[in-house]
Amino acid sequence: MTLKPIHRLLLAAAIAILQHGPLSSATSQEPLGLPPEMQCVSPNRVAIVGAGVAGSSAALWIGKAADRNGLDVEVDVYERNEYVGGRSTTVQPYDDPALEPTELGGSVFVPPNKLIWRATEEYGFEKFPFENTEDVMGVWDGTQFAVTVGGSHLYSGLLSKLKIIWRYGFNAPRRTQSAVDGMIDTILKLYHADAPRFRNISLLASELGWSNVAGQTSLDYLRTFSVDDLWSLEFVEALTRLNYGQDIDRMHALEGLVTLAANGASTVKGGNCQIFERFIRGSGATLYLNTTVTSITRESGSGPWLIRTDASEEAVPYRAVILAAPFHQTGIEFASEPPLAPVLEQPYIHLHVTLLTTTSPSANATYFNLPPGHKVPEMVLTTRNGARQGGPEPEFNSLSYLRPVRNRDLSPWKNQRGQTEWVVKIFSKQPISDEWLEMMFEGKVGWVLRKEWDAYPVLPPISEFPPVVLADGLYYANSFEPLISTLETEMISARNAVDLLMADHFGAGVCKPTSNVVTEDRDDDFVYGWDC
Ligand SMILES: Cc1cc2nc3c(=O)[nH]c(=O)nc-3n(C[C@H](O)[C@H](O)[C@H](O)COP(=O)(O)OP(=O)(O)OC[C@H]3O[C@@H](n4cnc5c(N)ncnc54)[C@H](O)[C@@H]3O)c2cc1C
Ligand SMILES: *[C@@H]1O[C@H](CO)[C@@H](O)[C@H](O)[C@H]1NC(C)=O
Ligand SMILES: *[C@@H]1O[C@H](CO)[C@@H](O)[C@H](O)[C@H]1NC(C)=O
Ligand SMILES: *[C@@H]1O[C@H](CO)[C@@H](O)[C@H](O)[C@H]1NC(C)=O
Repeated sequence: MTLKPIHRLLLAAAIAILQHGPLSSATSQEPLGLPPEMQCVSPNRVAIVGAGVAGSSAALWIGKAADRNGLDVEVDVYERNEYVGGRSTTVQPYDDPALEPTELGGSVFVPPNKLIWRATEEYGFEKFPFENTEDVMGVWDGTQFAVTVGGSHLYSGLLSKLKIIWRYGFNAPRRTQSAVDGMIDTILKLYHADAPRFRNISLLASELGWSNVAGQTSLDYLRTFSVDDLWSLEFVEALTRLNYGQDIDRMHALEGLVTLAANGASTVKGGNCQIFERFIRGSGATLYLNTTVTSITRESGSGPWLIRTDASEEAVPYRAVILAAPFHQTGIEFASEPPLAPVLEQPYIHLHVTLLTTTSPSANATYFNLPPGHKVPEMVLTTRNGARQGGPEPEFNSLSYLRPVRNRDLSPWKNQRGQTEWVVKIFSKQPISDEWLEMMFEGKVGWVLRKEWDAYPVLPPISEFPPVVLADGLYYANSFEPLISTLETEMISARNAVDLLMADHFGAGVCKPTSNVVTEDRDDDFVYGWDC
């Protein structure tokens, strides 16, 4: 039985999630106020609140639906930030536009993510694959490296496999892989022509056979596959902590499996957010950047939805609205008759991302209780398993050397003293101080950028989900996040919201209602939404 797939998968997962992509095109400033002639009621006017992946893809799907069904639908997209992309955005070391951008939020997607993968092909975006087999990955438990794997030599590769077998047994990787494969097979149903349209995520989860998976912790679920706990608590937890900042005995198993499905992980060169800018530009929607929606109200069940923003005194009427941001983070005041379906409070993981450049070729070995001068793994992931046994908890979730700072022609970039610098990304629960960085990189830190995100939902085992339809004509794309929070699933959720909106208000769908020919379903490349 070969260990290679799971080993590569874990490494790819870890490498990929931490990698970047280069340059993003500047978003041009869009009109802020609404001209008076636009303030009359238009029967076909739809608003989207938020221009992250969910909001921008909602615009894409509405544009496609309108074209396919011969409808005239006007779409306004409101975005609080000055950029499109939300939790998917890039920065450049030293703010230098000549240097490759680095992903600051959502970084990677995989080939089974058919909507986003196809988008890169439709628009001709180049992707970076992340099977960097030269990197060494170590799982740090706060006191020592529980295990290290990888490396460029045949010998270290072989040694890695032996180490894994010796430590975790023969079956753990294989059984984990089979659990992941089962999850991917199910998710592929969402791309068939007869993909379920859903108004209730609990019912969708149950239809897909996921109630039980989302209803228990990743640790318990892997136990049902007779996977050895040590493997789960060290190796798999390294990935749940990297991807979702959560421990394997706390996080539900569907999201746990998602972190393991990392084969072929890729990022768009120049930044993933370019895709989302293209969605909006190609959709014909009007984009209002730097515009915060302050209230969404409706006076009667048959009246229009009224949207107020911080950019204008006037309320703008809409036939329907898609809310494409986490409900409790929007600050929007809602008032309607009848009232909205209740949305349970949803805590998010508050994540600190620290990006830096350093001329130190390795993190500080002494800190990791290694002999001075020893090379620390390029990718340090963490487990809480040391803390479970009374040791200290790691001070960060992940710390990774991404690559040398490079410029556009991809030659290694040298600083003024002619030294090579590397880009390093750290995820942590607490802020990382300048003093800590000086200690970790032995005083050789160049540029530092800190960003805090409400990154992803806290994901305990779950059976109750937010409503997809908050009220007649008001759809909630981020209702999907407590089940799975990724770029791809936000695109799927936006596609579903648009499908419901088109059905409820225009007698149509993302596709023409009659165009779902079942025979097309046999084609593996068929992607519902793109191909109809
Ligand atoms: C550090 C990090 C790493 C991640 N890594 C990955 C990864 O590798 N792969 C992956 O698939 N996913 C990853 N994710 C998750 C992924 O980024 C998110 O699931 C996804 O981007 C969510 O998109 P969204 O459009 O639903 O929400 P958001 O991107 O949050 O978009 C919501 C938008 O609404 C706007 N908004 C909010 N309130 C208002 C208002 N009142 N008026 C106007 N606008 C408003 C916000 O400004 C925001 O732009 C990561 C996330 C983080 C933070
Ligand atoms: C965004 O809006 C704020 C006030 O609403 C303003 O101060 C700022 O200059 C605007 N930024 C841009 C780029 O227009
Ligand atoms: C490396 O880390 C150790 C332990 O944290 C610390 O005492 C030492 O000063 C660090 N080395 C440098 C050069 O900063
Ligand atoms: C979804 O359906 C289940 C079962 O019918 C129900 O208990 C639950 O309240 C529904 N959820 C929402 C958000 O409507």
